[in-house]
Amino acid sequence: MAKITVETIREMKARGEKIASLTAYDFPMARLLDEAGVPLLLVGDSLGMVVLGYPDTTHVTMADMEHHVRAVARAQPNALLAADLPIHSYDTPEQALDSARRLVAAGAEAVKAEGGRAIAAQVRAIVGAGIPFLGHLGMLPQHVLEEGGYKIKGRREEEHQALLADADALVAAGAFAVVLELVTPPVAKELTARLPIPTIGIGSGPDCDGQILVTHDLIGLFPWFTPKHVTPLFAAGAGVRQAAQLWREAMAKPAGGGGV
Ligand code: KIV
Repeated sequence: MAKITVETIREMKARGEKIASLTAYDFPMARLLDEAGVPLLLVGDSLGMVVLGYPDTTHVTMADMEHHVRAVARAQPNALLAADLPIHSYDTPEQALDSARRLVAAGAEAVKAEGGRAIAAQVRAIVGAGIPFLGHLGMLPQHVLEEGGYKIKGRREEEHQALLADADALVAAGAFAVVLELVTPPVAKELTARLPIPTIGIGSGPDCDGQILVTHDLIGLFPWFTPKHVTPLFAAGAGVRQAAQLWREAMAKPAGGGGV
């Protein structure tokens, strides 16, 4: 199968083929998701929550991202490998380019950052250096503390207009696709029809060009919290607990036990 590139992802929109995307933070998961044929893998800064145990993504550092991008890149996925620029790693165009180059050196083939018009100069610097850029609009998890929670975007006309202007700014700056997180389904549908680049929704209804999920949510590997927009298709957390318990109980049995 031919290596998935940014062009492949753009062509999928043109063909009306849905783009499936999942997060990966380590070698085995990247390999499994790639073997499942997922065309776009993201080393998301959601790793701060589902892998590193922080309450939100605002604690994730460049060093964290580089470490996990290297692990995922060792799987040499056929999928396009994108990685998040963590909070405060793209405050200026110069810093954004330096951070993007570090993630590419770690193995990323594209980078993602949150925001629209506010980071257009950063996006131009990254794209101008030949690094593919994935946008992220709607609910911006790196702003969760100012926002006071994970709130749906696009209900108010002012938010709707801001989303259109931010999306247009990302397209003009050269983004190859844009993630729409917790955008009202009608606005996500409008953006999908309006933009020449693919929209990848998360909690934004069925009408985006693709969908992205945090893999731990999809497979029940972070069972203590499941977002409303996810129906887990597996109970990995329960399976791990059960296997560990069976092994512990078998080991505790007198002679002959422990041979699970
Ligand atoms: O950090 C992340 O995993 C993300 C996706 C959920 C879109 O940004």
